[in-house]
Amino acid sequence: MATSQSLLHVDDRHRKSFAPIATPDRLLLGPGPSNAHPTVLQALARTPIGHLDPLYVELMGEVQELLRYAWQTDNRLTLPMSGTGSAAMEATIANTVEPGDTVLVAVKGYFGLRLVDMAGRYRANVKTIEKPWGEWFSLEELEAALIEHKPTMLAIVHAETSTGVCQPMEGVGDLCRKHDCLLLLDTVTSLGGVPLYIDEWKVDLAYSCSQKGLSCPPGLGPFTMGPRAEAKMEARTDKVPNWYLDVSLLNKYWGSDRVYHHTAPVNMNFGMREALRLLAEEGVEQSWARHRHNAEALWNGLESLGLSMHVPADRRLPTLTTVRIPEGVDGKAFSQHLLNQHGIEIGGGLGSLAGKIWRIGLMGYNSNPENVTHLLNLFESELPKFSGSVASAA
Ligand SMILES: Cc1ncc(COP(=O)(O)O)c(C=O)c1O
Repeated sequence: MATSQSLLHVDDRHRKSFAPIATPDRLLLGPGPSNAHPTVLQALARTPIGHLDPLYVELMGEVQELLRYAWQTDNRLTLPMSGTGSAAMEATIANTVEPGDTVLVAVKGYFGLRLVDMAGRYRANVKTIEKPWGEWFSLEELEAALIEHKPTMLAIVHAETSTGVCQPMEGVGDLCRKHDCLLLLDTVTSLGGVPLYIDEWKVDLAYSCSQKGLSCPPGLGPFTMGPRAEAKMEARTDKVPNWYLDVSLLNKYWGSDRVYHHTAPVNMNFGMREALRLLAEEGVEQSWARHRHNAEALWNGLESLGLSMHVPADRRLPTLTTVRIPEGVDGKAFSQHLLNQHGIEIGGGLGSLAGKIWRIGLMGYNSNPENVTHLLNLFESELPKFSGSVASAA
């Protein structure tokens, strides 16, 4: 019998030969990702197990329990979305916003604008209040907007990575209850590094990421939903318009049914489990204090070099510092020099702050005195070489 032959010709045009991967070991002191903890990297490299293996199912429960601890919440629906922080951000909106719902977004930076965009895509009636980038909202300003717009949800960023501002949250949850709306909080740059009390602050929905305060690579988006948000989701008249992020479906896998939804990124969850275990071992309060201590050393050091911070000390984020680029310095050239000559990443400004600030992250594993000293030494020795690299505007 004749053997069957493939009639199709294999096209080799894209078959290229590359060297095995060899990425450098950078020190990531920008707005994220941050370096992952070595123990987390070891966990990521373990042999995958099945996403319905009883051992994996047990690990899922551990991740959920430790996330509740990190966030200080008892919320049943607390789980990592398979995707980055933006996936978890989208999950909060997709599940609880119905077309025509009024969503009020308090915008004071780049990520507030992303919330506006997302809520609009789910056909919300989006209203905004805005502050210059580097400022925050008072309770009075938030209440006035709640009275004016009568939203079903107030969305706000706790730690604005684009500006370095920490939004004060005391009393915001009470306002939202008083005016009968849900409170959605972006905790991407605060989880693990900045005091955060989801239940005490009466936050109904929150999301975060794996790659900053949790010392894990990017890839998972922690998500939590409280009972008031659950009730809003359950009262929907139509299906959640996003299959992948539908929490009711996801909870059939993460809850007691253990029904397949999608093939979980098991190794990312190994890493997340270790990252959260390390956080619990240290203790959240100790981790918050460590972040503050190291950030203060950075602020003092930068100020003693004559640099000024973009945000007043009492509203500064310990995880992300925004430093004004001195007059006459080409900020981008300096950060490229740090990257190319010293293997250190720092960030530049976004939007209205582009070219005006550097963004320095001290998050999770990277928040330590050695990194602070190393970076300050480089600012002291290298920055003077860049003075006069841009002609002054005057
Ligand atoms: C405050 C804030 N929200 C949302 C995001 C989006 O997260 P991701 O880039 O992980 O999708 C980021 C990313 O840096 C962020 O800083």
